[in-house]
Amino acid sequence: MSKILVTGGIGYIGSHTVVELYNAGYTPIIVDNLSNSNIKILDQIEKIIGVKPEFHQFDLCDIQQTASFIAANPDITGIIHFAASKAVGESVADPLKYYHNNFFSLINLLNAYREKEINFVFSSSCTVYGEPDILPVTESAPVKKATSPYGNTKQIAEEILEEIAGAYGNYNIIALRYFNPVGAHQSALIGELPNGVPQNLLPFITQTAIGKREKLTVFGNDYDTPDGSCIRDYIHVVDLAKAHVAAIKLLERGNPNGKYDVFNVGTGNGYSVLEAIKAFEKASGQPLKYEFGPKRDGDIIQVWGDVNKSSTELGWKAELGIDEMMASAWAWEKYIHENPLD
Ligand code: UD1
Repeated sequence: MSKILVTGGIGYIGSHTVVELYNAGYTPIIVDNLSNSNIKILDQIEKIIGVKPEFHQFDLCDIQQTASFIAANPDITGIIHFAASKAVGESVADPLKYYHNNFFSLINLLNAYREKEINFVFSSSCTVYGEPDILPVTESAPVKKATSPYGNTKQIAEEILEEIAGAYGNYNIIALRYFNPVGAHQSALIGELPNGVPQNLLPFITQTAIGKREKLTVFGNDYDTPDGSCIRDYIHVVDLAKAHVAAIKLLERGNPNGKYDVFNVGTGNGYSVLEAIKAFEKASGQPLKYEFGPKRDGDIIQVWGDVNKSSTELGWKAELGIDEMMASAWAWEKYIHENPLD
């Protein structure tokens, strides 16, 4: 029962990963400052796994608190570091918030392990590829200049981690480059809880279907894609959670690729916005109100991942498809509508 620290473990991807870690026989310990998450998710996790995970509320940007927490928990063998600010638009308006939150927490955690071996899994993003020249995009594709401070924090964090893994012998690191996480746990007890008006496609779709939003605006219909809308590689959040468990296991076995490695976490399939809407309509059994609007600034036209390296070297492969993603997202939206957490 290795103890794995899950930072941001009350959040969307973090909470699903806590469940999958527990299912795989690990003891997850959560640290979260609740800046963008709801403490009641801890009770929801308990409803799924039958026990309440250990939880500590503090900000990892606080160097003293982080150092004393790590010193008081010498049996932690791995860290999955989700805690970070993640809204692209907000990062453009308030870049300092992003550089502060996303770097101080990372550096404080790494510093707390200068004397000890640690397995470290980092939440990165396919945003590092920008608009890829070749699709599907592989891990060896060039990293392109980030178009937002949020994206820049992911790129720089990857560089920091690679340098650290090379300079010291005690850090074993994997960065997972997520494509577009969607969906919810099959129990519908946990899922995405966007703050205010959702910026991402799936929560906007489900909130429109439940009547919270009037209609979805599809950003652009004349892109150079088969149906004119943008294409993404949507990945079920439970599959994504399992990729973290696979990463911890690979680090425990010893990664033959070395002290620092990156993996794409997607399905390898691209779906357009219009295809995603169709899949949602099928899963929910109702039409979705939408209209076409102008293109969104900074949007990538199309990206989907090559997942061969993940399947052969990480030993992980997505099992759930677009239908399960849409059905679970819809089940969660209905659940949370009937059972609001606050
Ligand atoms: C964005 C970020 C990515 C980040 C992720 C976090 C950019 C370029 N990328 O991904 O770095 O990791 O969020 O979750 O900002 N769409 C609509 N109408 C809407 C909302 C979205 O048509 O109301 C379309 C978008 O144009 C896009 C697709 O849906 O084609 C997915 O959008 P979204 O869910 O926001 O994710 P990304 O932009 O891919």
